[in-house]
Amino acid sequence: MSRLCEGRVAIVTGAARGIGREYALQLAACGAKVVVNDLGVSREGLGRDTSAAQQVVDEIKAAGGEAIANCDDVSEWKEAEHMIHSTVEHFGKLDVVINNAGILRDRMLVNMEESEWDAVIKVHLKGTFAPCHHAAVYWRNQQKLTGEPVNARLINTTSFSGLLGNIGQSNYGAAKAGIAAFTIITARELKRYGITVNAISPHAQTRMTESLRERTPEEIALRHPRWIAAAATWLASAESAEVTARVFELGGGFLAAMEGWHRGPQAEPIDNPNAIGPVMLDLARRARRNADMRGNDLD
Ligand SMILES: NC(=O)c1ccc[n+]([C@@H]2O[C@H](COP(=O)([O-])OP(=O)(O)OC[C@H]3O[C@@H](n4cnc5c(N)ncnc54)[C@H](O)[C@@H]3O)[C@@H](O)[C@H]2O)c1
Repeated sequence: MSRLCEGRVAIVTGAARGIGREYALQLAACGAKVVVNDLGVSREGLGRDTSAAQQVVDEIKAAGGEAIANCDDVSEWKEAEHMIHSTVEHFGKLDVVINNAGILRDRMLVNMEESEWDAVIKVHLKGTFAPCHHAAVYWRNQQKLTGEPVNARLINTTSFSGLLGNIGQSNYGAAKAGIAAFTIITARELKRYGITVNAISPHAQTRMTESLRERTPEEIALRHPRWIAAAATWLASAESAEVTARVFELGGGFLAAMEGWHRGPQAEPIDNPNAIGPVMLDLARRARRNADMRGNDLD
């Protein structure tokens, strides 16, 4: 493995399992010093196992890498701040934050409880906003202190569900769509300091996805999180400095840059508000034809 991230200090949230664990292992193998953050909760965000993050740290150390465990809840403001500050205290600096922690509480809208909405929105959206905020404040202060741009990275996690829509995931998809928008806005804000912000929309076999449908052993092998980790490791490196405000969808050998909302069919200027209905119907039909041609109409 190349030493792509030699000397860089990276926090990975939700790194005890699944994709996050693979991020932590690959970053360490590429020379990064890694903070393995995880609460050790169930897929639904319940319970707590503070030994989970330490197990990944032990694995990294056994392979000759450098890592520490952190059990802060990323969706709690003060705990996210503590995670950033304790990293800088321990390793002397911070270069990369990968916001990966997540939970699921899938339910059709008509059956969804308020608590299921709140829990998912909090872990994903606030659990991305809070670490990003505290890290960005640290980097802005560094930039002011030295007068030099930092070469820092925020890497967020969105999802197919947030970008194109999965039934039964209105809470999760809303949070993930929010993360995609948050990524683009903060990228534009933070460029001046030398901070890039990108998001990954992964497809991988983890406990989060294993129950969705039966897969063959070949499919499972192709969905190994190492593909996602290879992309995140490159984004985390100094090599990716020119790439910002992008959302990448990937899994196995598949990789695409997502292009989000754009203006589709547009009507001629309208001079009579009473005639707007038929024009909207025509636009909706043309938009649907376009979606059909792209093969991703969602009706
Ligand atoms: N697996 C996929 O194909 C897929 C697809 C789209 C998006 N994602 C996203 O990728 C990310 C990782 O998913 P995964 O499949 O590896 O899931 P996973 O359940 O295996 O891992 C998620 C980890 O996050 C931790 N976590 C949850 N809440 C936390 C909190 N508040 N603070 C700190 N840690 C917390 C959990 O303990 C767990 O170890 C998630 O954001 C998920 O939504 C995954």
